[in-house]
Formats: sequence, structure tokens, C-alpha cells
Amino acid sequence: MKQFDTQILPALTEEQALLAITKSCEALKKSQVVAIPTETVYGLAANGLDEIACSRIFEAKGRPQDNPLILHISHLDMLNDIVSDVPQVALKLAKAFWPGPLTMIFNRKESVPPIVSAGLNTVAVRMPSHKIAIELIKMCGFPLAAPSANLSGKPSPTSAKHVMEDMNGRIPYIIDGGGSDIGIESTVLSICNDVPTILRPGKITKSDIEKNLGFPIAIDPGITEKKEYNEAVSSPGMKYTHYSPEADVKIFIGSSRDFAHYVNSQQDIYALCFEEDVKLINKLYLCYGKSNDFESQARELFGSLREFDSLGAKTVIAHAPEKSGVGLSVYNRLAKSAGFEVIGNE
Ligand code: TXA
Ligand code: MG
Repeated sequence: MKQFDTQILPALTEEQALLAITKSCEALKKSQVVAIPTETVYGLAANGLDEIACSRIFEAKGRPQDNPLILHISHLDMLNDIVSDVPQVALKLAKAFWPGPLTMIFNRKESVPPIVSAGLNTVAVRMPSHKIAIELIKMCGFPLAAPSANLSGKPSPTSAKHVMEDMNGRIPYIIDGGGSDIGIESTVLSICNDVPTILRPGKITKSDIEKNLGFPIAIDPGITEKKEYNEAVSSPGMKYTHYSPEADVKIFIGSSRDFAHYVNSQQDIYALCFEEDVKLINKLYLCYGKSNDFESQARELFGSLREFDSLGAKTVIAHAPEKSGVGLSVYNRLAKSAGFEVIGNE
């Protein structure tokens, strides 16, 4: 599919950013799709109230129509145009974590095109903190629907270069705002049930949310375990293969010594490892941070998975972090890219 001569719009200085935002706003007003930087990952944005524009997101990504999109807003007032009620819990969390990497699922208003919600009665909303994303939404005056800007099934993009790899020819513009700060997608929290439930872990953790609300919340078991094909999923995104590079990814749980021992015994593999592992392994590797530096692992993970592809890796063995704090989000992305195939001891 080569419909566009895709242009990267640099936005690293204020002047460049204003030009990029203005050009992108014009395209978005004409129902086009534009890739934008956010603090989590790059997003593939379109007018979230325009059915045709949103259908172009699905087309560009090759995304299944039953997987709903997140609406991005720049101000709390915008929420009233798209959701039917704003529970107290949501207001409290918005005050604490917006703008930022938290997506909340609300009951939706009729004004939200069914394609955005994939036919559900709910809609996902977040207010990003990235300056370019916020300024662009403000200039447009409408919420931007934006999934991660990768081809469906590929690792989410954390740079304009990654977006170009997947979207070249499919969209007119990519705004280049530099590398993504966080590197993994937002925490998705459903607030429609009695107990708020995390459907996708992210930078904002279960304990961050519980501390703010003052009571315990739930976490969907699909985050760490494979869902059976026919099992009901709370979030449609859970049932699809995700974050898959060309290479076959396997995850390893265990100490540096055990990881190195296993990796060194394998043929024709690459390792995704912690700094502590480097001196023990004698295979080709990429390192994504110290074992306890979940922020670094989150930032480096998707770029590393893409780099393994450019190195021609057939099999990647990834040393998985502890499933606590932001480590749980890194573990979740790795587990999904590995189809939940785990080696080593839990
Ligand atoms: O950080 C992020 O959230 C990035 C940036 C661009 O904002 N966006 C992103 O979007 O990751 P996407 O489409 O790749 O992931 C959205 C996830 C999917 O797993 C989807 O199934 C879920 O949110 N979701 C969206 N609307 C939902 C709804 N109404 N109910 C349950 N899950 C929903
Ligand atoms: Mg995605």
C-alpha cells in the first residue's frame, strides 16, 4: 500500500514544532491520519469524532475492527463531550495522573462513533502529557483517536524512525518529537465496574492507583497468563498477538547465573539481557538496563525487539524482570511477544 509520500516533520525546536503541529492539524481536519509523539509510545492519530478518519487508522495499521481506540484529550472539559458520566473515582485519578500515562474506560456518549469503541458501550480516554500531543489536540479542538503507530502485531514504536518502518506510504506525516520517554503504552483502567480493574499495566502501577484512591483495586489475570481462545476478554486488545518481531521470542525467569547458563548452551540465539548478565554470557546480546531498573527496561524494550529484526535474529531469549511495580508492565509486554512461553523457574 503506497498512498502517500510519507514525510517526517521534525519538531525538536519550538519553531519546528509549531510548523509540524500546524501542518498536522490541517491534515487531521481533512480526515487524514498523522503519527504523533506521546510520552508513552508514538500514536497514529485521527479526528476521534469523525468516522471516516477513524476507519483510516484501522486501514493504515491493519487493525482488527473489534479492537477499540483510545481518545486523547487536552482538557478535562473535553471529557463531557464523549462520556455519559464521570464517576468520582475518575475525577480523583484524573486530578492525580492527568496529563499522563493513564487511560480510563468510561461509559460513552452517542457522539463517539461506534468504530472508535468497536461497538462497545464504553470508550477509553487519556490526556497525554507530551507537549506536542497536547498542543496538537488544542489546535484541532477535537479529541484524537490514537492507537500505537505500529502495524498491527508489531512492537509499538518509540521513535519516528520506527513509525517510518511500519507506516511508510500509508500516512502523510510523522511528527518527530524524539525518543519516547516511557517506552511502553499507558496503564488501562476500567472504572465501569464496582472495583476498578487494570486491563493493561503501565508506568502508573496498581499501588500508585491504590494509594491515591485509598482502597484496593483489581488486576485482570490476562496480564500475566494466556487467555484461551474462547475465553471472554475484558479488553479486546488482550486476545491478539502483540509486540512480535520476526524473531521467535522466549522469556527466561531466573538469576543471572541461570540465565547465562541457559543462553550459553543454546545455538543460533540472541539474548536480551540485564547489565549484570553481560559479563557472564558469550552470545550476541542487547542490554536493556539493570535488573532492577524497570524504567530503563520499559524505555529500551520495543526498540530492542525491532533491532533484533534488523540484526536478522531468529530466536531471542529475554531475561524477564520481576513482576512488581513497572516490572509487571515490562513482563506483560515480553510475555505477549513470547506468546507466554516461559523458560526457567517462576
Ligand atoms: O499509551 C498509549 O495508550 C498509546 C498512546 C498512543 O496513547 N496508545 C495505545 O493504544 O496503546 P492501543 O490502541 O495500541 O491500545 C489500546 C488498548 C487496547 O488493548 C484496547 O483493546 C484497549 O486499550 N481498549 C480501548 N478501548 C477499550 C474499551 N472501551 N474497553 C476495553 N479496552 C479498551
Ligand atoms: Mg497497540
